[in-house]
Amino acid sequence: MFKIEHLFKELWEDYIKLIPQAQKIVNLLEQEGEEIINDHIALRTFNIGPIRIDDIAKPFIKAGYEQKGEYHFEEKKLFAKHFEHHNKNLPKVFISELILEEFSMGFQDLIKQKIGSVESNRFADPRLMVQGRPWELSLAEYKSLLSESEYGAWVAAHGFRPNHFTIFINKLKKFKEIKDLNHFLKENGFELNTSGGEIKGGKEVCLEQSSTKADSIEVDFSDGKMIIPSCYFEFAKRYPQSNGELYQGFVAKSADKIFESTNQQ
Ligand code: NI
Repeated sequence: MFKIEHLFKELWEDYIKLIPQAQKIVNLLEQEGEEIINDHIALRTFNIGPIRIDDIAKPFIKAGYEQKGEYHFEEKKLFAKHFEHHNKNLPKVFISELILEEFSMGFQDLIKQKIGSVESNRFADPRLMVQGRPWELSLAEYKSLLSESEYGAWVAAHGFRPNHFTIFINKLKKFKEIKDLNHFLKENGFELNTSGGEIKGGKEVCLEQSSTKADSIEVDFSDGKMIIPSCYFEFAKRYPQSNGELYQGFVAKSADKIFESTNQQ
């Protein structure tokens, strides 16, 4: 039987293959006596055919997730939604899609061709996002996508895998402040994404976030290998809203900068 908890476990196993630093960070914090709770995962896709946000969300909806916030990223040509489960032990799921019609015809055709090359029932598999890239991709195709969108090239190269998991700082005992956690990570040799400042957001928007820079891994393309950015680890601290409840949504201005964690260095 398909269980959403199993999917999250598989997603984590796959994720740490792309970003070994995530397991190292978890181990380090556990040595400090912390228990790690995942605030959210983030998935990426394109706004067409069988792989729109609502398609990617299906296994989560089936497991009881509900759609909550919507977010627009004009400059990056992205749209996103987030989903929550009434079981607060399950992470939120943030899914964004690239708005293809805002790119060149060549870019659009290449993505449509990739999607068309995959048997459509593969996209309906609830385990799509642990199966890596479902299409063939050459180095030249990757580079051509990259010249228009870091995000588009990332999805073309890695498929629908989560681009980050997120440590929920509120549940940490020792590292209560995001700056203390950042300091600890840097002391231990991890590099943070500094685009838009190390800490994005703040108490005034009820959400503070930081993230590592993405790890790099060697990816097999159809005609060779290349080392490219993979995934990053995020850290989030949530603050109560005026009704006293912790804010559960996202902040577009902060997420906009966090997307850049997977940019080429
Ligand atoms: Ni995030």
